[in-house]
Amino acid sequence: MDAGTGVVGLIGHPVGHSKSPEMMNRAFRARGLPFVYLAFDVSPQELETAVRGMQALGFRGWNVTIPHKVAILEYLDEVEETAREIGAVNTVVSRDGRLIGYNTDSEGYLRSLVDETGLELAGQRVLILGAGGAARAVAHALAVAGVESITIANRTREKAERLAASLGRKVDARALSLAEVARVAGETTLLVQTTSVGMYPETEAIPIDPSLLHEGMTVSDLIYRPRKTLLLREAEARGARVHGGLGMLLHQAALAFEKWMGRAAPVDVMRDALEEAMK
Ligand code: ATR
Repeated sequence: MDAGTGVVGLIGHPVGHSKSPEMMNRAFRARGLPFVYLAFDVSPQELETAVRGMQALGFRGWNVTIPHKVAILEYLDEVEETAREIGAVNTVVSRDGRLIGYNTDSEGYLRSLVDETGLELAGQRVLILGAGGAARAVAHALAVAGVESITIANRTREKAERLAASLGRKVDARALSLAEVARVAGETTLLVQTTSVGMYPETEAIPIDPSLLHEGMTVSDLIYRPRKTLLLREAEARGARVHGGLGMLLHQAALAFEKWMGRAAPVDVMRDALEEAMK
């Protein structure tokens, strides 16, 4: 590091668990780029001050995580269409004094799903469990990618209805409560689990009755700790194809790297760094 070293980073609250510093710093070294990536714990009250500070210090950009993904919108000069539709930003680029917001979770999810499963998205009948921020990113990505239908099932049904309505004319979208998933499970070809159910340390929790899983399904769980949730283990036992959450984490980071650096990310190097950091 010297006087010419550039800075990018992460703001969230908390950020101590983040694996992004390992992935990004390894990527900068692999590409010989004079940048460092640092994680900053920023409380909601300090968000505006932090944004203005990073701007004044000439940060190239930064990632945004919980709880700032929606609140950050207020401080940006421009928000790219996907991020606007999702209503959340996870990547900011500072360009010529302007702050531009993107959402790479959406495209990151798609890249991971297609890379790891080889799934053809056209014609998929999708069931999404959950209707929070992660579900919004996934639902928009799949709608744009041309799946046949999307059913959103959420514990709080009104939130599922709002998300289904926001998908508008892009796709045939319906809403259910989580308790009603048996109605559509049989015809579902892609099940995407976006709730926190099954996440460490509650690793024996599962969001739906496992008898609804079948071999005609690909089951995708956004949780990456554990690498294979109980849902994925039950799905695998019934002959379904399974997809874990680590790839989304990797690809959303690779896409952020590309937005800041204007060149392809060293995805394999970043995957190795992530795998090591997960041990
Ligand atoms: P994220 O950004 O990770 O999506 P979020 O926006 O807080 O987080 O959304 C959390 C999702 O997990 C919601 O769909 C939530 O359901 P509610 O809308 O009913 O709260 C779901 N969720 C969390 N805990 C759950 C549980 N124990 N059972 C079922 N769903 C749960």
